[in-house]
Amino acid sequence: MNPLGLYIHFPWCVKKCPYCDFNSFHQPTALPKAEYIACLIRDFEQDWQKVSERTITSIFMGGGTPSLFHAEDLAPLFAKILPHCQPNLEITLEANPGTIEHGQFKEYRDLGINRISLGVQSFQSAHLKALGRIHSADEVAKAVAEIKAAGFSNFNLDLMHGLPKQTLDEALDDLHQAIALQPTHLSWYQLTIEPNTYFAHYPPTLPHDDALAEIEEQGFALLTAAGFERYEISAFARNNRQSQHNLNYWTFGDYLGIGAGAHGKITVEAPNHIVRTIKPKLPKSYLQRQSCTQMLLPESALPFEWMMNVLRLKQGVSAHLFSERTGLPLSVIQSKLNRAVQAQLLEADPEKIQASDLGYRFLNDLLTHFMDQDPI
Ligand SMILES: C[S@@+](CC[C@H](N)C(=O)[O-])C[C@H]1O[C@@H](n2cnc3c(N)ncnc32)[C@H](O)[C@@H]1O
Ligand code: SF4
Repeated sequence: MNPLGLYIHFPWCVKKCPYCDFNSFHQPTALPKAEYIACLIRDFEQDWQKVSERTITSIFMGGGTPSLFHAEDLAPLFAKILPHCQPNLEITLEANPGTIEHGQFKEYRDLGINRISLGVQSFQSAHLKALGRIHSADEVAKAVAEIKAAGFSNFNLDLMHGLPKQTLDEALDDLHQAIALQPTHLSWYQLTIEPNTYFAHYPPTLPHDDALAEIEEQGFALLTAAGFERYEISAFARNNRQSQHNLNYWTFGDYLGIGAGAHGKITVEAPNHIVRTIKPKLPKSYLQRQSCTQMLLPESALPFEWMMNVLRLKQGVSAHLFSERTGLPLSVIQSKLNRAVQAQLLEADPEKIQASDLGYRFLNDLLTHFMDQDPI
């Protein structure tokens, strides 16, 4: 059976950041923590009926800001979930440095969480302010010290680059400061202006394209020199500490998604029988236990969905994974693969599906080769 991840969404934040289009909302005065956890438990129990013979292979608690919930809040949920997990699975919690109280990470560790993903974004006060962040660079250093003192050997820092008015030196300085904290993983995203965000309505001045290209080129070189391997578009790992949970998404594995707005993907009955689940997006609707949306992915959509995920991986994947995860023979995309190879966007190795250097730089162009849905 495919691996099975579990994603748990926490939809509230202290404050909504002006660039963010994730399903996150300004927290109410009194956070309904117990009610939300009760809904997560019910949600999990319902989804579990669809997969009950299987074992959970990774857990990711994302947001929003999951660190608004303490270990004692999460304990009843963990009691339900952990009996269905494989031993020593990766359990990640996203944390915002502005929400951490002394001792909080130690309690997470005692609960079984073994990986932290910390939202840093930048180490420079002017940029933190422009991004509407609720924390200072000092609070990041304090949070990392707590993470280490609590015994976490595996932690990620999220950084963004291409920030409003950011110079090359500032972007590289952020990377230097992040590397100095010795994370096992770095996510280094280029800031994108998403529709319906504050930044979309009041666009900041971003570095121009040449400056962005220079930031990327020098940033990649700096990360490589520091021992970080780029294994996905924005993800870099040291000592083979790739995110197991995200690798499962990018290899088109299955996952349950619980919590407001969470998505899931579950293979049922046959490999080409893939169901998407989507939970009510608004916390209020979710708390009122409105029902989940489910749809069967049409077979004709599977090749593109598969490609969209696996091509994100720098080293690509074995060609046989296509049939394993979609239930379709590779022959259904062979002519498209051939055309992408001819365009020099895909490596010409029949054992592997991997973007060429050119294809990786122009991933959207490569993906267009797989967009039109041939009848299967
Ligand atoms: C799901 S968010 C949650 C992280 C956490 N709530 C925090 O901000 O502290 C994960 C990461 O996506 C990145 N991100 C969010 N919006 C982005 C955008 N518009 N452009 C690029 N990266 C973005 C940020 O680095 C963020 O830390
Ligand atoms: S704290 Fe994270 S999830 Fe919340 S608004 Fe900011 S970027 Fe989005």
